[in-house]
Amino acid sequence: MLIDQAEALRNLARKVEVDSPRLIAVISGKGGVGKSNIAVNLAIRLSAMGRKVVLLDADLGTANADVLCNLTPRANLAHVVSGRWSLSEAMVEAPGGFRLIPGASGLAQMATLGEFERQRILEQVRQLGQEADLVLIDTVAGIGPNVIGFALEADELLVVTTPEPTAITDAYAAIKIVTRQRPDADVRLLTNMVRDATEGRAVHERIDSVCRRFLNVSTRYAGHVVADPRVTAAVRRRRPFVIDSPQCEASVCIAQLAHRMDRHAVDPPGDGLIRRMATWLTG
Ligand SMILES: Nc1ncnc2c1ncn2[C@@H]1O[C@H](COP(=O)(O)OP(=O)(O)OP(=O)(O)O)[C@@H](O)[C@H]1O
Ligand SMILES: [Mg+2]
Repeated sequence: MLIDQAEALRNLARKVEVDSPRLIAVISGKGGVGKSNIAVNLAIRLSAMGRKVVLLDADLGTANADVLCNLTPRANLAHVVSGRWSLSEAMVEAPGGFRLIPGASGLAQMATLGEFERQRILEQVRQLGQEADLVLIDTVAGIGPNVIGFALEADELLVVTTPEPTAITDAYAAIKIVTRQRPDADVRLLTNMVRDATEGRAVHERIDSVCRRFLNVSTRYAGHVVADPRVTAAVRRRRPFVIDSPQCEASVCIAQLAHRMDRHAVDPPGDGLIRRMATWLTG
């Protein structure tokens, strides 16, 4: 009986692995470190490489991925949460070919999703099945219940930090909170607004060594994006910088990141809940 159930679970795990998009939560401790810009521009580069990418703006208080893309969507995540629109109906074509599920702005009462609402969103995200290869989840700054909730469900965490000591400390705090609840989380650090590759790597080494020492977890290095005035200029024009200035240094960094992520994305996700349960049941 137990074996039958395990077999059924394993079959389900196989199906989920084949059909579900890879969920990547983009998080940070400190605000304003570049999460939304990185998420939008990575989504565009990955789409250019032929991946089907969906960006879920999980911010219900101060969302801005739509602003960065100069879109004025008719529906947003608040409508999905209230059940008025389905996730697919709320999705809009964004510049560069990815699809955006817009967040909402100014809805203080909506800013914190309950567990039920979050699960409903995630269920619809997973049901996108083969319509999406990758779902990037852009989160709010800080380590509130929304962020942790999405982080705990994602296949991978992209933790964004800058070289500023405050951003580094807050990135460490975010990693600490998530890995305390999920020690096997796949944590990748992305350094933004760095001078060069060397500085980016040094920031990762510092954070990683503290994580190993005090949390007993290791983090991988996703890569870096340099500080580039073209990013700010593009934001002012409401154009993603990889479109506004495709040859600028930051755009080159995004292309490198996208290539690395794409290589990694073709590996099957290894630690889905159902898969873990099946392994646990059958040893
Ligand atoms: N690589 C970069 N070079 C120069 N400026 C940058 C870079 N990345 C981000 N910025 C600047 O930082 C600002 C904040 O970026 P962004 O909105 O993406 O951060 P965020 O982490 O999403 O913020 P929040 O926590 O409020 O959601 C941008 O408007 C831009 O001016
Ligand atoms: Mg943001």
